[in-house]
Amino acid sequence: MKKKILTVLAACAMAIVLPVQTSCAVNTAEESADLAAGVRSLCDYLLTKPAEQKPDPTAADKNQDGILNAADLSLIKQSMLPLTEPNESKTLVAYFSRTNNTEKIADYIVELTGAARYEMSAKIPYTDADIRYQDSGCRANQEQNDKDFRTEIAEMPESLDAYDTIFLGYPIWWGEEPRIIDTFLEAYDFSGKTVIPFCTSGSSGIGQSEKRIASLVPIGRQLTGRRFAASASKESVSEWIGSLDLTPQEQEVTRMQITVNGKTMTASIADNEAGKALAALLSEGELTLSLKEYGGFEKVGALPQTLPKSDTQITTEPGDIMLYQGSQMTIFYDSNAWSYTRLGKIENVTAAELKEIFGTGDVTVVLTAIR
Ligand SMILES: Cc1cc2nc3c(=O)[nH]c(=O)nc-3n(C[C@H](O)[C@H](O)[C@H](O)COP(=O)(O)O)c2cc1C
Repeated sequence: MKKKILTVLAACAMAIVLPVQTSCAVNTAEESADLAAGVRSLCDYLLTKPAEQKPDPTAADKNQDGILNAADLSLIKQSMLPLTEPNESKTLVAYFSRTNNTEKIADYIVELTGAARYEMSAKIPYTDADIRYQDSGCRANQEQNDKDFRTEIAEMPESLDAYDTIFLGYPIWWGEEPRIIDTFLEAYDFSGKTVIPFCTSGSSGIGQSEKRIASLVPIGRQLTGRRFAASASKESVSEWIGSLDLTPQEQEVTRMQITVNGKTMTASIADNEAGKALAALLSEGELTLSLKEYGGFEKVGALPQTLPKSDTQITTEPGDIMLYQGSQMTIFYDSNAWSYTRLGKIENVTAAELKEIFGTGDVTVVLTAIR
């Protein structure tokens, strides 16, 4: 079976090569070697894909420069891959890999964790000459020399909201992450996410790149990353993943949404025992409370359970949310002096607005945690 696929692929590769070669000869021995390596790499890649995803060989000279080389192969591969491979997992393996070493590690992580995958590619693909780092002026070197340079990415996921954990992979370029990784990091909000860097290199460690990633954008939690050799085994990747603390961190709930009479407001949650108990309740799901009008200054009603009270005499202000007698929530749209425990405070709404929102009758209030 594999032999048959290989024959088809060989034919496919020839079909790719021939029209280009006859219309525009491959000039140098170096270009021939590039071409052969490129076709081999494409064959390897295609072997992992079902037949219906094979590219149209007549359209192989993707950038239409008359030469079939790694830049075309990169574009072909890009057009065959969905932006992120859809998956139920909340973990994403996002990586850049120009010569497929990092991609091999990314593949292992996807296999081992069931994560979704996103391969970032440069909008202008890197040619072999672009990454010939022995040439001091090559594109990759120029980009690395300018810490503010941001390599444009070909296609980016609209959002990363579906993921809470991101394995971020790249090759080490001059001791650091390629600038395309900086472009990716600056495009999304990682403040609530766990990011785990991984890389491949000839011999350098991950050190500087990890520090740069940590200082570039706010990241919720960045785990210690890992450098792999190009020849790293799946077992060594598996061992590393096993050593990571991947249990999602419970995010502390300090604010909530309050919806009443079709209007949604936000409120802080008090930093006391009662507030913590309310936050814990909200962490389990939204709370719907029936609150009765009382005294022309408050709405009051039962909570589903008692909360720890530490009552003190308070003159309330509009927007105050109080615990009354340990088991009831009182929301003030005007003032009253009594003994309460603070639960929170509605933010950025005036007394007049509160009066209008809460109205004169009984209300149903829905409280939701803000994470
Ligand atoms: C521009 C450039 C700079 C590089 N700098 C380093 C380096 O500083 N240290 C190192 O060990 N390897 C370096 N390498 C080698 C790559 O890190 C290594 O080949 C890597 O595995 C390539 O990954 P990829 O196949 O995913 O692109 C560099 C390669 C390039 C193209």
